[in-house]
Amino acid sequence: MERVGAHGGKRWLPRLLLLAALSWLLMVYLHAAVFHAPPVSTPPHTSHVAVASDCEDCRRFLLRQEEQLKKIASASASATASALPAAAAGEERQRPRGGGGGDACRGRYVYIHDLPPRFNADIIRNCRKTEDHWGDMCRFLRNDGLGRPLADRIDGVIKSEAGWYDTHQFALDAIFHNRMKQYECLTSDSAEASAVFVPFYAGFDFVRYHWGYDNATRDAASVDLTEWLMARPEWQRMGGRDHFLVAGRTGWDFRRSNNVDPDWGNDLLVMPAGRNMSVLVLESAMLHGSDYPVPYPTYFHPRSDADVLRWQDRVRGQRRTWLMAFVGAPRPDVPINIRVRDHVIAQCKASSACTMLGCARATGSTQCHTPGNIMRLFQKTIFCLQPPGDTCTRRSAFDSMVAGCIPVFFHTGSAYKQYRWHLPGDHHKYSVYIPDADVRQRNVSIEAVLRAIPPATVERMREEVIRLIPRVLYADPRSRLETLKDAVDIAVEGILGTVARIRNGEYVDSGGPVTEDPPNLFSSTESRFRPKQSVQAVDH
Ligand SMILES: *[C@@H]1O[C@H](CO)[C@@H](O)[C@H](O)[C@H]1NC(C)=O
Ligand SMILES: *[C@@H]1O[C@H](CO)[C@@H](O)[C@H](O)[C@H]1NC(C)=O
Ligand SMILES: *[C@@H]1O[C@H](CO)[C@@H](O)[C@H](O)[C@H]1NC(C)=O
Repeated sequence: MERVGAHGGKRWLPRLLLLAALSWLLMVYLHAAVFHAPPVSTPPHTSHVAVASDCEDCRRFLLRQEEQLKKIASASASATASALPAAAAGEERQRPRGGGGGDACRGRYVYIHDLPPRFNADIIRNCRKTEDHWGDMCRFLRNDGLGRPLADRIDGVIKSEAGWYDTHQFALDAIFHNRMKQYECLTSDSAEASAVFVPFYAGFDFVRYHWGYDNATRDAASVDLTEWLMARPEWQRMGGRDHFLVAGRTGWDFRRSNNVDPDWGNDLLVMPAGRNMSVLVLESAMLHGSDYPVPYPTYFHPRSDADVLRWQDRVRGQRRTWLMAFVGAPRPDVPINIRVRDHVIAQCKASSACTMLGCARATGSTQCHTPGNIMRLFQKTIFCLQPPGDTCTRRSAFDSMVAGCIPVFFHTGSAYKQYRWHLPGDHHKYSVYIPDADVRQRNVSIEAVLRAIPPATVERMREEVIRLIPRVLYADPRSRLETLKDAVDIAVEGILGTVARIRNGEYVDSGGPVTEDPPNLFSSTESRFRPKQSVQAVDH
């Protein structure tokens, strides 16, 4: 009987445990309710009348774009749902084995146009001839566009890892073309294809003729290309609206005629045939055009899933001794009232928790052009500061993510409004947003903002950044990741979705009727977006 008594006493144990569990859950819930809120996020400032900045202009374009997209999306939400490829972050790709007899490539076939070499191979064959403006571009074109392997002493921390190269930020034309050759659903029958890839090296074409050449010379290859394309049967199907190409620079470089600077760039994105194609760029101008942003190339180009997983483990295990870091040069030629970068640099210099690689724009400054230095720094840092430079976006944002360093943005145009295919819609999951005006006008302390984020939240954000690594990198074009999707896989999904919407008559943002005139955001008194000036710049 004693045993019953003892047993009776023990009956309380589960209840106690249950009670404890419930109160723990309550605490977790309260903690989450308090802290899970976005760490920093003040709504866009509308009260003050600010002088329009580069990126404020950018933001206005983007907001307008967003409104249009929302309208289109809500009008066709249900109809499109099935046509859109799954785009959830981090999921593995479906292998096209077609196990059940079905064709896993159905709706995903891509046909690559066999262009005459004057549109690609010949352009880069001349990389030495134009050395004044390309710099030593030839060395960046080796290894299918990846550049020199990083294996020397100076590259230290990444020496023992596979897949690291001294990749140029504007080498995407070649990398993407070579990578497309590995795309799993290629077809040689263009009639079967859902999209047509045009391997024209638009970014390299820009570089060879931009400086010191007249309009006609700058536009010559684009005109030639569009004439060649329009004469093909593939063009007739959809007026080229199922075609896509890569112009591995910002969209501002390919719209001279509807840009603010009538002397900048060529007109690829303005000519009728150019407008009908989807053009992948590093930063979209978002001028109701058909240029879609994809990540800048980073230094990491894994050959296999294992390379990625090993790297993810490595950055997850890094000891991070710096709270924040900045790599980049000041931009003295940007008007003072919009130069948030100055404030970021000043705050970083003044903080003992911040580390910096100063990159004077003067020639001879190499320390911030050394991938090893940059990656080493980012791996030791919790938050990487990403203020705009010449334009809103930066390669550095992607370098930092690859290093597992949480990016801190100061403009929505630096990532959130750009890389919608590649980055999660909920940007608080992987980044910190400190509005530019808070720093410039209200002297908000970046350090204080970052220190206020609870460690558990930081941990979650970093884990999300690490999870995103495969999506923002370009796999080695000479091999193929087994199951992970890289930036090319994600971009092709985006293109296929866009083409499907166009085909269903649901998407008229490009090529189709423009319903209203774009606002004149660039009056002569306003500052504006400046195209990226530097060819060499690995300047972040
Ligand atoms: C070059 O093109 C731009 C815009 O497309 C135009 O404003 C400019 O006048 C042209 N330059 C010459 C020399 O024709
Ligand atoms: C662009 O696409 C539209 C709609 O499909 C078509 O009417 C037009 O002819 C195309 N433009 C060119 C240059 O092919
Ligand atoms: C901004 O804040 C820092 C430290 O919080 C202070 O030292 C500095 O004087 C402030 N600058 C201005 C312009 O208010």
